[in-house]
Amino acid sequence: MAGSKQPQPEQPPEQQPAPSHEQQPAKPSEQPPAPGCACDKARPPADLANLPRTIWWDTDPSDGRPAVMLIDQTRLPLQGDILACRTLAGVETAIQSLALRGAPALGVGAAMAVAIWSENEHQGTDAAQWLDGIDAAAERIAAARPTAVNLSWGAEQIRGYAHSRLAANPPDDLAAAKAAIVDFARQMAADDEATNRAIGANGAHLLPPDANVLTHCNAGSLGTAFFGTALGVVYTAYDQGRVAHVWVDETRPLNQGGRLTAWELMCVGIPCTLIADNMAASVMAQGWVDAILVGADRICANGDTANKIGTLSLAILAQRYGIPFYVCAPSSTVDYNLADGSLIPIEQRDPRELEGFTATGTASAPNALAARALDMFTGKEGREVKLKGGHRVFVDRKGGGYTFDAWFRNTPPKVSAYNPAFDVTPAELISAIITERGVFKPGEL
Ligand code: MRU
Repeated sequence: MAGSKQPQPEQPPEQQPAPSHEQQPAKPSEQPPAPGCACDKARPPADLANLPRTIWWDTDPSDGRPAVMLIDQTRLPLQGDILACRTLAGVETAIQSLALRGAPALGVGAAMAVAIWSENEHQGTDAAQWLDGIDAAAERIAAARPTAVNLSWGAEQIRGYAHSRLAANPPDDLAAAKAAIVDFARQMAADDEATNRAIGANGAHLLPPDANVLTHCNAGSLGTAFFGTALGVVYTAYDQGRVAHVWVDETRPLNQGGRLTAWELMCVGIPCTLIADNMAASVMAQGWVDAILVGADRICANGDTANKIGTLSLAILAQRYGIPFYVCAPSSTVDYNLADGSLIPIEQRDPRELEGFTATGTASAPNALAARALDMFTGKEGREVKLKGGHRVFVDRKGGGYTFDAWFRNTPPKVSAYNPAFDVTPAELISAIITERGVFKPGEL
């Protein structure tokens, strides 16, 4: 995995200030939603041309080799680094570090990981050996994270295609088969966008005019190949006059809401207000939320749904305050093999995510002498500085300047920490599941 000199994403444009509580909120309409809702408020449409793209297949500009390109979500929103992954291990690292994250994006990432192995790492001309390698690559990438079923689904899609493609063609057609699985992986990204747009269309009409919606984590363009699931509904509904404003849960501990969702919404110009997770109850109690829209990492046969930790609390609150709670996800997130949520494997992450916080940034040297000193200090590989109190800073060179990645402890050393990445919302707390195939009662998918 290597940084490339792709253009950086634009900073979000200035947007109108988030509505104050006095301006809040339109109560949900009791009227059934009119098709193509005519609440024609004078507001510009969402600027979807500014929506970030998450993952795509390209050629690494530094050496002309095929690469899986992805926006590094660990550094957003302040840095828009593009990673060029040229190996299976590179994509695997990106997934495990959450540079690439979000269930549908992981499905595409898994397929592209297998395709990049085939393009850049496979050697030889024996078709059977190639298929063995495809199987091994698919198995390895499927295990990179446990909870989002789309990851193993994506790996299985491309593995199955490789087998059937070769079975249907002469055994000496390996070069064509290799090209075909690259096309297949690229098509999965295109299909994901089409699926998300269908989720958006299916979900938008459930919202009343000028709704204030609340969302958790990032189920937006960044969690998919493009457009988003829960935010896909928001983007579609906003242009129909059904969404006026979005409450964004910051989503501890890694702040996918504060860092990614808020940035996405600001990029497209949809009014949003950031809240800490523990403010959601207060916002709902005041009648300021008309609907909750979340994504999903795995939906069981009975409708129990795993999503980012904190989703369960929202669903319980939604029931208390009579707010519809919608799960928005592609059909590929449904795991019919699991009867209920107690069987979903829940990812446990590094306790350091709770024990401190990370900060990343860039710096420039104030003068030539300082630049020389910093260049000597960072050397070729960059250098980690261990500070008192357990804080750490990693400094490296990039372009004409320097980057830093820091972790600062803000809890007692050796404190015990429990850090599950997901929780399971029982089906009975979910009003409906919105997929590209339509709107379903949980358990009736
Ligand atoms: O740990 P993450 O950031 O991969 O968790 C992501 C979520 O929980 C999302 O809500 C879900 O994957 C849907 S993304 C469209």
